[in-house]
Amino acid sequence: MRNNQGVGMIPQDFIQTLLSRVDIVDVIGRHVTLKKAGANFQACCPFHQEKSPSFTVSPTKQFYHCFGCGAHGTAIGFLMEYVGVGYVDAIQTLASQMGISVPQTALKLGADAVPFRQSANMLEIMQRATLFYRQQLKLSGRAITYLKGRGLTGEIAARFGLGYSPDGWQNLAQVFDYDDEVLTQAGLVIASDAGKRYDRFRDRIMFPIWSQKGEVIGFGGRVLDSGEPKYLNSPETPLFQKGNELYGLFQARRAIRDADRVLVVEGYMDVLALVQHGVDYVVATLGTATTATHVQKLLRHTDELVYCFDGDAAGRRAAWRALEQSLPVLTDVSRVLFLFLPQGHDPDSYVRERGAAGFVSWMADAGVPLSAYLFQQVTAEVDMELAEGRSAFLKRVQPLIMQVAAPALALILRRRAAELAQVDMNELARLWQITETRTPYTALARASRPAPVSVVRKLLRIVLFRPQLAGQLPVEWLVGRDEDSSAMREVLEILLVSPNLDTAALMEYARGLTHGSTLTVCAGEIMGWDEHFDVMPEFELALEQLRASHQHQRLQVLAKKSPHELSEAEKQELRLAK
Ligand code: UTP
Ligand code: MN
Repeated sequence: MRNNQGVGMIPQDFIQTLLSRVDIVDVIGRHVTLKKAGANFQACCPFHQEKSPSFTVSPTKQFYHCFGCGAHGTAIGFLMEYVGVGYVDAIQTLASQMGISVPQTALKLGADAVPFRQSANMLEIMQRATLFYRQQLKLSGRAITYLKGRGLTGEIAARFGLGYSPDGWQNLAQVFDYDDEVLTQAGLVIASDAGKRYDRFRDRIMFPIWSQKGEVIGFGGRVLDSGEPKYLNSPETPLFQKGNELYGLFQARRAIRDADRVLVVEGYMDVLALVQHGVDYVVATLGTATTATHVQKLLRHTDELVYCFDGDAAGRRAAWRALEQSLPVLTDVSRVLFLFLPQGHDPDSYVRERGAAGFVSWMADAGVPLSAYLFQQVTAEVDMELAEGRSAFLKRVQPLIMQVAAPALALILRRRAAELAQVDMNELARLWQITETRTPYTALARASRPAPVSVVRKLLRIVLFRPQLAGQLPVEWLVGRDEDSSAMREVLEILLVSPNLDTAALMEYARGLTHGSTLTVCAGEIMGWDEHFDVMPEFELALEQLRASHQHQRLQVLAKKSPHELSEAEKQELRLAK
Protein backbone atom coordinates (compact mmCIF):
# COMPACT_ATOMS: atom_id res chain seq x y z
CA MET A 1 0.00 0.00 0.00
CA ARG A 2 2.65 2.48 1.03
CA ASN A 3 5.06 3.02 -1.74
CA ASN A 4 6.90 6.26 -1.52
CA GLN A 5 10.41 6.82 -0.36
CA GLY A 6 9.53 9.90 1.65
CA VAL A 7 6.69 8.49 3.61
CA GLY A 8 7.52 6.27 6.48
CA MET A 9 10.94 7.49 7.42
CA ILE A 10 9.49 10.11 9.73
CA PRO A 11 6.78 9.09 12.19
CA GLN A 12 3.34 9.99 10.93
CA ASP A 13 2.30 11.49 14.25
CA PHE A 14 5.22 13.89 14.07
CA ILE A 15 4.12 14.99 10.62
CA GLN A 16 0.61 15.49 11.93
CA THR A 17 1.94 17.58 14.83
CA LEU A 18 4.10 19.60 12.52
CA LEU A 19 1.27 20.25 10.08
CA SER A 20 -1.02 21.30 12.89
CA ARG A 21 1.55 23.86 14.13
CA VAL A 22 2.59 25.50 10.89
CA ASP A 23 0.21 27.73 9.03
CA ILE A 24 0.25 26.99 5.34
CA VAL A 25 -0.86 30.55 4.63
CA ASP A 26 2.39 31.83 6.20
CA VAL A 27 4.50 29.21 4.50
CA ILE A 28 3.14 29.95 1.05
CA GLY A 29 2.78 33.66 1.81
CA ARG A 30 6.55 33.92 2.06
CA HIS A 31 6.84 33.05 -1.59
CA VAL A 32 3.55 34.04 -3.19
CA THR A 33 1.33 37.06 -2.61
CA LEU A 34 -1.96 35.70 -1.33
CA LYS A 35 -5.25 37.56 -1.34
CA LYS A 36 -8.13 36.73 0.93
CA ALA A 37 -11.15 35.36 -0.94
CA GLY A 38 -13.92 34.25 1.40
CA ALA A 39 -12.67 31.61 3.77
CA ASN A 40 -9.67 30.86 1.54
CA PHE A 41 -6.74 32.70 0.03
CA GLN A 42 -6.00 33.00 -3.65
CA ALA A 43 -3.18 33.84 -6.00
CA CYS A 44 -2.09 33.33 -9.56
CA CYS A 45 -0.64 29.86 -9.53
CA PRO A 46 3.14 29.71 -9.08
CA PHE A 47 3.24 26.38 -10.89
CA HIS A 48 1.73 27.40 -14.21
CA GLN A 49 1.19 30.52 -16.27
CA GLU A 50 -2.15 32.17 -15.72
CA LYS A 51 -3.83 35.56 -15.70
CA SER A 52 -6.63 35.02 -13.21
CA PRO A 53 -6.04 33.30 -9.89
CA SER A 54 -6.92 29.61 -9.64
CA PHE A 55 -4.45 28.81 -6.88
CA THR A 56 -6.36 28.45 -3.61
CA VAL A 57 -5.00 28.00 -0.10
CA SER A 58 -7.28 26.80 2.67
CA PRO A 59 -6.28 27.91 6.18
CA THR A 60 -8.75 25.51 7.76
CA LYS A 61 -7.79 22.43 5.82
CA GLN A 62 -4.14 23.42 5.59
CA PHE A 63 -3.64 22.53 2.00
CA TYR A 64 -3.49 24.24 -1.35
CA HIS A 65 -5.03 23.37 -4.66
CA CYS A 66 -4.83 24.92 -8.10
CA PHE A 67 -8.03 24.59 -10.12
CA GLY A 68 -6.07 25.40 -13.24
CA CYS A 69 -3.19 22.96 -13.23
CA GLY A 70 -4.16 20.62 -10.43
CA ALA A 71 -1.12 21.36 -8.26
CA HIS A 72 -1.98 20.59 -4.68
CA GLY A 73 -0.57 19.61 -1.34
CA THR A 74 0.26 20.51 2.21
CA ALA A 75 2.90 22.95 3.46
CA ILE A 76 5.42 20.14 3.07
CA GLY A 77 4.38 19.52 -0.49
CA PHE A 78 4.54 23.21 -1.30
CA LEU A 79 8.15 23.51 -0.18
CA MET A 80 9.07 20.42 -2.15
CA GLU A 81 7.44 21.68 -5.32
CA TYR A 82 8.21 25.36 -5.08
CA VAL A 83 11.62 25.42 -3.45
CA GLY A 84 12.56 22.08 -4.96
CA VAL A 85 13.76 20.43 -1.76
CA GLY A 86 13.29 16.79 -0.80
CA TYR A 87 10.72 15.46 1.59
CA VAL A 88 12.98 15.27 4.62
CA ASP A 89 14.47 18.69 3.95
CA ALA A 90 11.01 20.22 3.65
CA ILE A 91 10.05 18.75 7.01
CA GLN A 92 13.28 19.88 8.58
CA THR A 93 12.82 23.42 7.22
CA LEU A 94 9.31 23.67 8.62
CA ALA A 95 10.30 22.15 11.94
CA SER A 96 13.16 24.54 12.43
CA GLN A 97 10.94 27.51 11.52
CA MET A 98 8.60 26.37 14.27
CA GLY A 99 11.46 25.78 16.66
CA ILE A 100 10.77 22.08 17.02
CA SER A 101 13.21 19.35 16.28
CA VAL A 102 12.58 16.28 14.16
CA PRO A 103 12.59 13.35 16.57
CA GLN A 104 15.58 11.05 16.53
CA THR A 105 13.28 8.08 15.99
CA ALA A 106 12.79 9.56 12.57
CA LEU A 107 16.20 8.21 11.77
CA LYS A 108 15.49 4.79 13.16
CA LEU A 109 13.51 1.96 11.75
CA GLY A 110 9.74 2.14 12.26
CA ALA A 111 7.29 -0.71 11.78
CA ASP A 112 6.91 -0.37 8.04
CA ALA A 113 9.37 2.43 7.61
CA VAL A 114 12.39 2.85 5.45
CA PRO A 115 14.94 4.48 7.65
CA PHE A 116 16.09 7.79 6.35
CA ARG A 117 19.77 6.99 6.55
CA GLN A 118 19.23 3.85 4.61
CA SER A 119 17.33 5.50 1.78
CA ALA A 120 19.89 8.32 1.61
CA ASN A 121 22.42 5.56 1.51
CA MET A 122 20.52 3.86 -1.27
CA LEU A 123 20.57 7.03 -3.35
CA GLU A 124 24.29 7.25 -2.88
CA ILE A 125 24.68 3.65 -3.93
CA MET A 126 22.65 4.24 -7.07
CA GLN A 127 24.83 7.23 -7.82
CA ARG A 128 28.00 5.20 -7.44
CA ALA A 129 26.62 2.36 -9.50
CA THR A 130 25.77 4.85 -12.26
CA LEU A 131 29.34 6.09 -12.27
CA PHE A 132 30.70 2.58 -12.33
CA TYR A 133 28.53 1.56 -15.27
CA ARG A 134 29.49 4.71 -17.15
CA GLN A 135 33.17 3.99 -16.69
CA GLN A 136 32.64 0.46 -17.85
CA LEU A 137 30.95 1.72 -21.01
CA LYS A 138 34.10 3.64 -21.88
CA LEU A 139 36.03 0.39 -21.58
CA SER A 140 33.72 -1.73 -23.69
CA GLY A 141 34.20 -1.41 -27.43
CA ARG A 142 31.34 -3.80 -27.98
CA ALA A 143 28.86 -1.70 -26.01
CA ILE A 144 30.00 1.51 -27.69
CA THR A 145 29.63 -0.09 -31.09
CA TYR A 146 26.13 -1.19 -30.17
CA LEU A 147 25.04 2.31 -29.19
CA LYS A 148 26.63 3.85 -32.28
CA GLY A 149 24.87 1.24 -34.37
CA ARG A 150 21.61 2.52 -32.94
CA GLY A 151 22.44 6.01 -34.06
CA LEU A 152 23.32 7.54 -30.72
CA THR A 153 26.17 9.99 -30.20
CA GLY A 154 28.39 10.25 -27.16
CA GLU A 155 26.66 13.48 -26.28
CA ILE A 156 23.27 11.79 -25.87
CA ALA A 157 24.84 8.86 -24.05
CA ALA A 158 26.37 11.33 -21.60
CA ARG A 159 23.20 13.36 -21.22
CA PHE A 160 21.28 10.24 -20.22
CA GLY A 161 24.17 8.75 -18.25
CA LEU A 162 24.18 5.56 -20.29
CA GLY A 163 26.49 2.83 -19.06
CA TYR A 164 27.43 -0.79 -19.44
CA SER A 165 27.31 -3.59 -16.89
CA PRO A 166 30.10 -6.00 -17.75
CA ASP A 167 29.68 -9.72 -18.08
CA GLY A 168 30.53 -11.68 -14.94
CA TRP A 169 28.78 -12.32 -11.65
CA GLN A 170 30.17 -9.89 -9.09
CA ASN A 171 31.50 -6.86 -10.90
CA LEU A 172 29.97 -4.48 -8.39
CA ALA A 173 32.36 -5.90 -5.79
CA GLN A 174 34.95 -3.65 -7.43
CA VAL A 175 33.24 -0.57 -6.01
CA PHE A 176 31.05 -1.77 -3.13
CA ASP A 177 31.22 -3.81 0.01
CA TYR A 178 29.47 -6.67 -1.73
CA ASP A 179 27.78 -8.01 1.42
CA ASP A 180 26.06 -4.72 2.19
CA GLU A 181 22.33 -5.47 2.44
CA VAL A 182 21.50 -2.15 0.85
CA LEU A 183 22.81 -3.46 -2.46
CA THR A 184 20.09 -6.12 -2.49
CA GLN A 185 17.46 -3.68 -1.24
CA ALA A 186 18.42 -1.34 -4.05
CA GLY A 187 17.95 -4.18 -6.52
CA LEU A 188 21.52 -4.15 -7.77
CA VAL A 189 22.48 -7.47 -6.25
CA ILE A 190 20.37 -10.61 -6.13
CA ALA A 191 20.68 -13.00 -3.18
CA SER A 192 19.79 -16.53 -4.23
CA ASP A 193 18.07 -19.00 -1.92
CA ALA A 194 21.32 -20.90 -1.72
CA GLY A 195 22.95 -17.81 -0.24
CA LYS A 196 24.91 -16.82 -3.35
CA ARG A 197 25.02 -13.15 -4.23
CA TYR A 198 25.40 -11.87 -7.78
CA ASP A 199 24.89 -8.75 -9.91
CA ARG A 200 21.36 -8.32 -11.28
CA PHE A 201 22.64 -6.58 -14.41
CA ARG A 202 25.24 -8.48 -16.44
CA ASP A 203 26.39 -7.67 -19.94
CA ARG A 204 23.73 -5.05 -20.52
CA ILE A 205 23.51 -1.44 -21.71
CA MET A 206 22.47 0.47 -18.61
CA PHE A 207 19.82 3.20 -18.66
CA PRO A 208 19.72 5.08 -15.36
CA ILE A 209 16.23 6.19 -14.37
CA TRP A 210 16.11 9.57 -12.71
CA SER A 211 13.56 11.00 -10.32
CA GLN A 212 12.19 14.45 -11.08
CA LYS A 213 14.78 15.81 -8.70
CA GLY A 214 17.64 14.32 -10.65
CA GLU A 215 18.50 11.40 -8.44
CA VAL A 216 19.12 8.00 -9.99
CA ILE A 217 16.44 5.76 -8.48
CA GLY A 218 16.55 2.73 -10.77
CA PHE A 219 17.99 1.19 -13.91
CA GLY A 220 16.86 -0.44 -17.08
CA GLY A 221 19.34 -2.79 -18.73
CA ARG A 222 19.20 -3.94 -22.35
CA VAL A 223 20.89 -6.98 -23.81
CA LEU A 224 23.30 -6.28 -26.65
CA ASP A 225 22.19 -9.21 -28.71
CA SER A 226 18.97 -11.15 -28.84
CA GLY A 227 18.97 -12.54 -25.30
CA GLU A 228 15.97 -12.65 -22.98
CA PRO A 229 14.60 -10.66 -21.36
CA LYS A 230 15.40 -7.83 -23.73
CA TYR A 231 15.10 -5.30 -20.94
CA LEU A 232 15.65 -6.00 -17.31
CA ASN A 233 14.51 -3.30 -14.92
CA SER A 234 15.21 -2.54 -11.29
CA PRO A 235 12.62 -4.13 -9.03
CA GLU A 236 10.30 -1.92 -7.04
CA THR A 237 12.36 -0.48 -4.20
CA PRO A 238 11.77 2.22 -1.63
CA LEU A 239 13.20 4.63 -4.19
CA PHE A 240 11.61 3.30 -7.33
CA GLN A 241 7.99 2.65 -8.27
CA LYS A 242 7.45 2.13 -11.97
CA GLY A 243 3.90 3.40 -11.96
CA ASN A 244 5.03 6.77 -10.65
CA GLU A 245 8.10 7.39 -12.75
CA LEU A 246 8.69 8.49 -16.30
CA TYR A 247 11.92 7.84 -18.12
CA GLY A 248 13.52 11.02 -19.38
CA LEU A 249 11.35 13.48 -17.44
CA PHE A 250 14.27 14.94 -15.56
CA GLN A 251 16.20 15.63 -18.75
CA ALA A 252 13.11 16.88 -20.60
CA ARG A 253 11.74 19.34 -18.06
CA ARG A 254 12.99 22.48 -19.78
CA ALA A 255 12.18 21.29 -23.24
CA ILE A 256 8.63 20.45 -22.15
CA ARG A 257 8.12 23.93 -20.78
CA ASP A 258 9.61 25.53 -23.89
CA ALA A 259 7.59 23.44 -26.32
CA ASP A 260 4.55 23.55 -24.03
CA ARG A 261 3.98 19.93 -24.92
CA VAL A 262 5.11 16.52 -23.83
CA LEU A 263 5.33 13.45 -26.00
CA VAL A 264 4.78 10.13 -24.22
CA VAL A 265 6.30 7.03 -25.81
CA GLU A 266 6.83 3.47 -24.65
CA GLY A 267 10.52 2.71 -24.90
CA TYR A 268 13.86 3.86 -23.58
CA MET A 269 15.29 3.75 -27.07
CA ASP A 270 12.38 5.76 -28.42
CA VAL A 271 13.21 8.57 -26.02
CA LEU A 272 16.88 8.51 -26.93
CA ALA A 273 16.28 8.43 -30.68
CA LEU A 274 13.81 11.30 -30.52
CA VAL A 275 16.13 13.42 -28.41
CA GLN A 276 19.01 12.53 -30.70
CA HIS A 277 17.04 14.00 -33.58
CA GLY A 278 16.01 17.09 -31.63
CA VAL A 279 12.51 16.17 -30.46
CA ASP A 280 13.51 16.57 -26.86
CA TYR A 281 10.19 17.05 -25.05
CA VAL A 282 9.75 13.32 -24.71
CA VAL A 283 9.34 10.81 -21.88
CA ALA A 284 8.57 7.09 -21.67
CA THR A 285 6.55 4.95 -19.32
CA LEU A 286 8.69 2.20 -17.89
CA GLY A 287 7.26 -0.94 -19.41
CA THR A 288 3.98 -0.30 -17.59
CA ALA A 289 0.66 1.07 -18.67
CA THR A 290 0.07 4.77 -18.22
CA THR A 291 -1.20 5.63 -14.74
CA ALA A 292 -3.20 8.60 -13.49
CA THR A 293 -0.11 9.56 -11.50
CA HIS A 294 1.89 9.74 -14.72
CA VAL A 295 -0.71 11.96 -16.33
CA GLN A 296 -0.99 14.20 -13.32
CA LYS A 297 2.78 14.57 -13.13
CA LEU A 298 3.02 15.52 -16.77
CA LEU A 299 0.12 17.97 -16.69
CA ARG A 300 2.05 19.90 -14.07
CA HIS A 301 4.64 20.75 -16.68
CA THR A 302 2.45 21.49 -19.67
CA ASP A 303 -1.16 21.47 -20.83
CA GLU A 304 -0.49 19.42 -23.95
CA LEU A 305 0.11 15.73 -23.74
CA VAL A 306 0.68 13.65 -26.85
CA TYR A 307 0.58 9.88 -26.48
CA CYS A 308 2.42 7.99 -29.15
CA PHE A 309 1.52 4.31 -29.42
CA ASP A 310 2.15 1.49 -31.87
CA GLY A 311 -0.61 1.06 -34.43
CA ASP A 312 -1.22 -2.60 -33.53
CA ALA A 313 -3.83 -4.09 -31.21
CA ALA A 314 -1.56 -3.83 -28.18
CA GLY A 315 -0.96 -0.16 -28.94
CA ARG A 316 -4.70 0.45 -29.19
CA ARG A 317 -5.30 -1.24 -25.87
CA ALA A 318 -2.56 0.83 -24.27
CA ALA A 319 -4.10 3.98 -25.72
CA TRP A 320 -7.52 3.17 -24.35
CA ARG A 321 -6.04 2.54 -20.96
CA ALA A 322 -4.20 5.87 -21.14
CA LEU A 323 -7.48 7.56 -22.00
CA GLU A 324 -9.19 6.02 -18.99
CA GLN A 325 -6.40 7.06 -16.71
CA SER A 326 -6.42 10.59 -18.09
CA LEU A 327 -10.14 11.34 -17.77
CA PRO A 328 -10.21 12.04 -14.01
CA VAL A 329 -7.13 14.23 -14.00
CA LEU A 330 -7.71 16.37 -17.07
CA THR A 331 -8.31 20.04 -16.49
CA ASP A 332 -10.34 22.40 -18.63
CA VAL A 333 -7.17 23.63 -20.27
CA SER A 334 -5.60 20.24 -20.97
CA ARG A 335 -5.08 19.09 -24.55
CA VAL A 336 -4.53 15.38 -24.88
CA LEU A 337 -3.82 13.80 -28.26
CA PHE A 338 -3.32 10.25 -29.48
CA LEU A 339 -0.93 9.25 -32.21
CA PHE A 340 -0.75 5.82 -33.80
CA LEU A 341 2.36 4.81 -35.66
CA PRO A 342 2.20 3.09 -39.01
CA GLN A 343 2.44 -0.70 -38.69
CA GLY A 344 5.94 -1.96 -38.10
CA HIS A 345 7.26 1.34 -36.81
CA ASP A 346 8.14 2.51 -33.35
CA PRO A 347 9.01 6.14 -32.60
CA ASP A 348 12.70 5.27 -32.85
CA SER A 349 12.46 3.85 -36.36
CA TYR A 350 9.98 6.51 -37.45
CA VAL A 351 12.08 9.50 -36.45
CA ARG A 352 15.14 7.88 -37.97
CA GLU A 353 13.30 7.43 -41.24
CA ARG A 354 11.57 10.81 -41.41
CA GLY A 355 13.77 13.07 -39.30
CA ALA A 356 12.60 15.52 -36.64
CA ALA A 357 10.71 17.74 -39.07
CA GLY A 358 8.91 14.80 -40.63
CA PHE A 359 8.04 13.43 -37.22
CA VAL A 360 6.70 16.74 -35.96
CA SER A 361 4.61 17.40 -39.04
CA TRP A 362 3.17 13.90 -38.82
CA MET A 363 2.39 14.60 -35.16
CA ALA A 364 0.54 17.77 -36.15
CA ASP A 365 -1.49 15.96 -38.83
CA ALA A 366 -2.17 12.61 -37.26
CA GLY A 367 -2.92 13.50 -33.65
CA VAL A 368 -6.45 12.56 -32.59
CA PRO A 369 -7.81 14.64 -29.69
CA LEU A 370 -8.93 12.67 -26.67
CA SER A 371 -12.57 13.70 -27.05
CA ALA A 372 -12.64 12.55 -30.68
CA TYR A 373 -10.86 9.32 -29.82
CA LEU A 374 -13.32 8.59 -27.05
CA PHE A 375 -16.42 9.01 -29.22
CA GLN A 376 -14.78 7.33 -32.20
CA GLN A 377 -14.03 4.22 -30.17
CA VAL A 378 -17.38 3.93 -28.45
CA THR A 379 -19.46 4.62 -31.55
CA ALA A 380 -17.42 2.08 -33.52
CA GLU A 381 -18.69 -0.67 -31.24
CA VAL A 382 -22.36 -0.06 -31.98
CA ASP A 383 -24.67 0.81 -34.85
CA MET A 384 -25.54 4.45 -34.33
CA GLU A 385 -28.28 4.25 -36.97
CA LEU A 386 -30.32 2.08 -34.65
CA ALA A 387 -32.09 3.07 -31.45
CA GLU A 388 -30.49 0.04 -29.80
CA GLY A 389 -27.06 1.17 -30.92
CA ARG A 390 -27.53 4.66 -29.61
CA SER A 391 -28.83 3.45 -26.26
CA ALA A 392 -25.86 1.10 -25.93
CA PHE A 393 -23.63 4.01 -26.83
CA LEU A 394 -25.06 6.13 -24.01
CA LYS A 395 -24.67 3.28 -21.58
CA ARG A 396 -21.01 2.80 -22.48
CA VAL A 397 -20.02 6.39 -22.64
CA GLN A 398 -21.64 7.34 -19.34
CA PRO A 399 -19.07 5.90 -16.92
CA LEU A 400 -16.30 7.47 -18.97
CA ILE A 401 -17.72 10.95 -19.13
CA MET A 402 -18.80 10.84 -15.50
CA GLN A 403 -15.15 10.52 -14.53
CA VAL A 404 -14.23 13.85 -16.03
CA ALA A 405 -13.77 16.29 -13.19
CA ALA A 406 -12.97 19.30 -15.37
CA PRO A 407 -16.33 21.06 -15.36
CA ALA A 408 -16.40 22.68 -18.79
CA LEU A 409 -14.96 19.63 -20.52
CA ALA A 410 -17.46 17.36 -18.77
CA LEU A 411 -20.29 19.59 -19.92
CA ILE A 412 -19.14 19.63 -23.52
CA LEU A 413 -18.63 15.88 -23.61
CA ARG A 414 -22.13 15.35 -22.28
CA ARG A 415 -23.52 17.68 -24.88
CA ARG A 416 -21.72 15.79 -27.63
CA ALA A 417 -22.95 12.46 -26.27
CA ALA A 418 -26.51 13.80 -26.26
CA GLU A 419 -26.18 15.00 -29.86
CA LEU A 420 -24.77 11.71 -31.05
CA ALA A 421 -27.51 9.74 -29.31
CA GLN A 422 -30.16 12.18 -30.55
CA VAL A 423 -31.47 13.06 -27.10
CA ASP A 424 -31.52 16.50 -25.55
CA MET A 425 -29.47 17.62 -22.59
CA ASN A 426 -32.37 17.49 -20.14
CA GLU A 427 -33.18 13.96 -21.13
CA LEU A 428 -29.56 12.98 -20.77
CA ALA A 429 -29.33 14.60 -17.37
CA ARG A 430 -32.38 12.68 -16.21
CA LEU A 431 -31.06 9.44 -17.66
CA TRP A 432 -27.68 9.83 -16.02
CA GLN A 433 -29.24 11.18 -12.87
CA ILE A 434 -27.30 14.37 -13.05
CA THR A 435 -29.36 16.11 -10.42
CA GLU A 436 -28.63 19.40 -8.84
CA THR A 437 -28.83 18.01 -5.36
CA ARG A 438 -28.24 19.90 -2.18
CA THR A 439 -24.55 19.66 -1.39
CA PRO A 440 -22.29 21.18 1.20
CA TYR A 441 -20.58 23.28 -1.46
CA THR A 442 -20.51 26.93 -0.71
CA ALA A 443 -17.68 28.55 -2.56
CA LEU A 444 -17.23 26.35 -5.57
CA ALA A 445 -18.50 29.01 -7.93
CA ARG A 446 -15.34 29.14 -9.96
CA ALA A 447 -14.95 25.42 -10.20
CA SER A 448 -18.61 25.59 -11.26
CA ARG A 449 -21.21 23.01 -10.50
CA PRO A 450 -19.92 19.76 -9.10
CA ALA A 451 -19.78 17.00 -11.66
CA PRO A 452 -22.22 14.17 -10.95
CA VAL A 453 -20.69 11.84 -8.48
CA SER A 454 -21.14 8.33 -7.25
CA VAL A 455 -22.15 7.56 -3.70
CA VAL A 456 -18.69 6.26 -2.94
CA ARG A 457 -17.14 9.43 -4.26
CA LYS A 458 -19.43 11.45 -1.99
CA LEU A 459 -18.36 9.37 0.97
CA LEU A 460 -14.73 9.73 0.01
CA ARG A 461 -15.05 13.50 0.02
CA ILE A 462 -16.88 13.51 3.32
CA VAL A 463 -14.37 11.24 5.01
CA LEU A 464 -11.54 13.38 3.69
CA PHE A 465 -13.30 16.40 5.12
CA ARG A 466 -14.07 14.74 8.45
CA PRO A 467 -11.76 11.72 8.86
CA GLN A 468 -13.36 10.87 12.22
CA LEU A 469 -16.46 9.67 10.38
CA ALA A 470 -14.53 6.80 8.79
CA GLY A 471 -15.27 4.54 11.75
CA GLN A 472 -18.97 4.58 10.87
CA LEU A 473 -18.41 3.25 7.37
CA PRO A 474 -18.45 -0.57 7.15
CA VAL A 475 -15.66 -1.57 4.80
CA GLU A 476 -17.57 -4.67 3.67
CA TRP A 477 -20.06 -2.44 1.90
CA LEU A 478 -17.31 -1.27 -0.41
CA VAL A 479 -17.14 -4.13 -2.82
CA GLY A 480 -16.72 -2.15 -6.05
CA ARG A 481 -13.57 -2.55 -8.07
CA ASP A 482 -13.73 0.99 -9.38
CA GLU A 483 -11.10 3.55 -8.50
CA ASP A 484 -13.22 5.41 -5.95
CA SER A 485 -14.05 2.24 -4.02
CA SER A 486 -10.41 1.19 -4.02
CA ALA A 487 -9.34 4.61 -2.81
CA MET A 488 -12.00 4.52 -0.11
CA ARG A 489 -10.84 1.13 1.10
CA GLU A 490 -7.27 2.38 1.24
CA VAL A 491 -8.32 5.41 3.28
CA LEU A 492 -10.32 3.28 5.69
CA GLU A 493 -7.34 1.00 6.16
CA ILE A 494 -5.14 3.94 7.10
CA LEU A 495 -7.69 5.47 9.41
CA LEU A 496 -8.11 2.14 11.11
CA VAL A 497 -4.46 2.26 12.07
CA SER A 498 -4.25 6.01 12.65
CA PRO A 499 -7.76 7.15 13.52
CA ASN A 500 -6.67 10.61 14.59
CA LEU A 501 -5.33 11.85 11.29
CA ASP A 502 -6.84 15.14 10.19
CA THR A 503 -7.42 16.18 6.60
CA ALA A 504 -3.98 17.66 6.01
CA ALA A 505 -2.17 14.73 7.59
CA LEU A 506 -4.27 12.35 5.52
CA MET A 507 -3.35 14.27 2.39
CA GLU A 508 0.30 14.09 3.32
CA TYR A 509 -0.15 10.35 3.66
CA ALA A 510 -1.71 10.25 0.20
CA ARG A 511 1.74 10.97 -1.21
CA GLY A 512 2.60 7.31 -0.75
CA LEU A 513 -0.69 5.63 -1.61
CA THR A 514 -1.67 3.57 -4.61
CA HIS A 515 -4.82 5.65 -4.93
CA GLY A 516 -3.27 8.90 -3.77
CA SER A 517 -4.10 10.71 -6.98
CA THR A 518 -7.83 10.09 -6.51
CA LEU A 519 -7.56 11.47 -3.01
CA THR A 520 -5.86 14.60 -4.22
CA VAL A 521 -8.55 15.12 -6.82
CA CYS A 522 -11.11 14.80 -4.00
CA ALA A 523 -9.14 17.25 -1.90
CA GLY A 524 -9.57 19.79 -4.67
CA GLU A 525 -13.28 19.06 -4.70
CA ILE A 526 -13.71 19.81 -1.00
CA MET A 527 -11.58 22.94 -1.13
CA GLY A 528 -14.63 25.19 -1.07
CA TRP A 529 -16.50 23.39 1.68
CA ASP A 530 -17.23 25.61 4.62
CA GLU A 531 -15.42 24.36 7.69
CA HIS A 532 -18.57 24.68 9.81
CA PHE A 533 -20.80 22.86 7.43
CA ASP A 534 -22.76 20.03 8.98
CA VAL A 535 -22.01 17.10 6.72
CA MET A 536 -23.94 14.60 8.81
CA PRO A 537 -27.16 14.67 6.76
CA GLU A 538 -25.15 14.15 3.56
CA PHE A 539 -23.12 11.44 5.19
CA GLU A 540 -26.11 9.54 6.52
CA LEU A 541 -27.89 9.76 3.20
CA ALA A 542 -24.87 8.48 1.31
CA LEU A 543 -24.31 5.74 3.85
CA GLU A 544 -27.90 4.61 3.45
CA GLN A 545 -27.54 4.57 -0.34
CA LEU A 546 -24.38 2.52 -0.08
CA ARG A 547 -26.02 0.09 2.32
CA ALA A 548 -29.01 -0.28 0.02
CA SER A 549 -26.87 -0.89 -3.03
CA HIS A 550 -24.73 -3.37 -1.16
CA GLN A 551 -27.80 -5.23 0.01
CA HIS A 552 -29.29 -5.16 -3.45
CA GLN A 553 -26.16 -6.73 -4.90
CA ARG A 554 -26.08 -9.32 -2.18
CA LEU A 555 -29.68 -10.31 -2.73
CA GLN A 556 -29.04 -10.65 -6.41
CA VAL A 557 -26.23 -13.05 -5.67
CA LEU A 558 -28.38 -15.04 -3.28
CA ALA A 559 -31.33 -15.09 -5.65
CA LYS A 560 -29.16 -16.70 -8.31
CA LYS A 561 -28.28 -19.59 -6.04
CA SER A 562 -30.46 -22.66 -5.96
CA PRO A 563 -32.26 -23.28 -2.65
CA HIS A 564 -30.03 -26.14 -1.45
CA GLU A 565 -26.95 -23.89 -1.71
CA LEU A 566 -28.41 -21.40 0.75
CA SER A 567 -27.83 -21.43 4.46
CA GLU A 568 -30.76 -20.90 6.83
CA ALA A 569 -29.64 -17.35 7.54
CA GLU A 570 -29.46 -16.60 3.83
CA LYS A 571 -32.96 -17.98 3.26
CA GLN A 572 -34.19 -15.80 6.07
CA GLU A 573 -32.49 -12.82 4.47
CA LEU A 574 -34.22 -13.49 1.17
CA ARG A 575 -37.63 -13.89 2.82
CA LEU A 576 -37.24 -10.63 4.67
CA ALA A 577 -36.35 -8.81 1.50
CA LYS A 578 -39.56 -9.86 -0.21
P1 UTP B 1 10.13 -2.18 -26.74
O1 UTP B 1 10.45 -3.59 -27.05
O2 UTP B 1 9.23 -1.43 -27.69
O3 UTP B 1 11.45 -1.38 -26.44
O4 UTP B 1 9.53 -2.11 -25.29
P2 UTP B 1 12.35 -0.42 -27.29
O5 UTP B 1 12.73 0.71 -26.43
O6 UTP B 1 11.75 -0.13 -28.64
O7 UTP B 1 13.60 -1.35 -27.45
P3 UTP B 1 14.55 -1.61 -28.64
O8 UTP B 1 14.30 -0.57 -29.68
O9 UTP B 1 14.25 -3.00 -29.12
O10 UTP B 1 15.88 -1.53 -28.00
C1 UTP B 1 9.10 -0.87 -24.76
C2 UTP B 1 9.50 -0.76 -23.33
O11 UTP B 1 8.96 -1.83 -22.59
C3 UTP B 1 9.83 -2.20 -21.55
C4 UTP B 1 10.99 -1.25 -21.63
O12 UTP B 1 10.73 -0.14 -20.77
C5 UTP B 1 10.98 -0.84 -23.08
O13 UTP B 1 11.66 0.38 -23.31
N1 UTP B 1 10.30 -3.59 -21.70
C6 UTP B 1 10.36 -4.19 -22.91
C7 UTP B 1 10.71 -4.27 -20.58
O14 UTP B 1 10.65 -3.74 -19.46
N2 UTP B 1 11.18 -5.55 -20.71
C8 UTP B 1 11.29 -6.16 -21.90
O15 UTP B 1 11.76 -7.30 -21.98
C9 UTP B 1 10.85 -5.48 -23.05
MN1 MN C 1 12.48 -0.02 -30.52
